[in-house]
Amino acid sequence: PTIFVAMPSILVNSRDITNFVVKEGHGVKGLAEMGLESLPEQYIQPPEGRMDTSIIVPEESVPVIDMSHWHDPKVADLICDAAEKWGFFQIVNHGVPIEVLKDVKDASHRFFNLPAEEKRKLLKENSPTNNVRFGTSFIPEAEKALEWKDYLSLFYVTDDEAAAFWPPVCKNQTLEFIQSSDLVVKKLLRVLMKRLNVTEIKESLLMGSKRINLNYYPICPNPELTVGVGRHSDVSTLTIPLQDDIGGLYVRKKVSDSWIHVSPISGSLVINIGDALQIMSNGRYKSVEHRVVANGRKNRISVPIFVTPKPTDVIGPLSEVLESGETPKYKQVLYSDYVKHFFRKGHDGKENRICKDMTA
Ligand code: OGA
Ligand code: NI
Repeated sequence: PTIFVAMPSILVNSRDITNFVVKEGHGVKGLAEMGLESLPEQYIQPPEGRMDTSIIVPEESVPVIDMSHWHDPKVADLICDAAEKWGFFQIVNHGVPIEVLKDVKDASHRFFNLPAEEKRKLLKENSPTNNVRFGTSFIPEAEKALEWKDYLSLFYVTDDEAAAFWPPVCKNQTLEFIQSSDLVVKKLLRVLMKRLNVTEIKESLLMGSKRINLNYYPICPNPELTVGVGRHSDVSTLTIPLQDDIGGLYVRKKVSDSWIHVSPISGSLVINIGDALQIMSNGRYKSVEHRVVANGRKNRISVPIFVTPKPTDVIGPLSEVLESGETPKYKQVLYSDYVKHFFRKGHDGKENRICKDMTA
């Protein structure tokens, strides 16, 4: 095996590094903290996977919407227009207390600062439950190049289940964030459904399950050669990707190859439409590709909540949407099958999944 990077002698080859990061639970955070001088080869993305800075449009931003008067038809229009045209927007005056946001971000740092021996207990092969998982990259066993990110993923079932299994250092804060965002999610979905002429409340279908991820993107040597998260759309109904003040999340501008930075706004929440809502709205609302770049100077965290159907739900274009005679663009699919499909291979955008495999 080739020696390609100056680092402590215990990690001399590629296999050692993968073991250390993936199997031993040190994550890329552990690797970054050893002070390596250059990016290990398994993190080097092929050129098409990297962020080419010439395709960033610096003067544009996604809409920022004040939710204080969400009943106002003008505000409702802004929300629905943003969901149709951008698939991404930010909301202010959303009703989730700033303290809750601060607490969950602090809790994320506490979790990642745990020793590797603690985090290792939550790796897929060790975790006492499928609903709690610590990991690194996206699917290390299937990806061509690894992503510069560690994560804790928590699938919410009940408060009792969370009390029993979620890590004590972040359990209350993550639960609090999920609970206090519930109302604004309901408001957004109500407004979005109204434009589709859906009057029946479909909360159990639209938001029957929730997952919260804690993401950690450590300082990276050669950030331009790798990614934090590769380009993808979310499989959710809606996502609330809470971010800190570091920046680095980029959104694809619809039908173009240009990318727009989602600038951190203190106290705001980012909202993005996921594939499930694109499917249910028969393509009216758009899930949009996004990616996170690696950062050479600062550690970044994010805490997305994924609001989703239940794994056992069958999703497809809603009957109310098709009533006007619209032809269905997508097939019906068991939601858990759709998600499984997403986790089959590395991040490669959305066209293979929703555009090709789901077309009716
Ligand atoms: C995701 C995601 C964005 C971020 O986890 O699906 O897009 O800012 N995260 O971490
Ligand atoms: Ni995402």
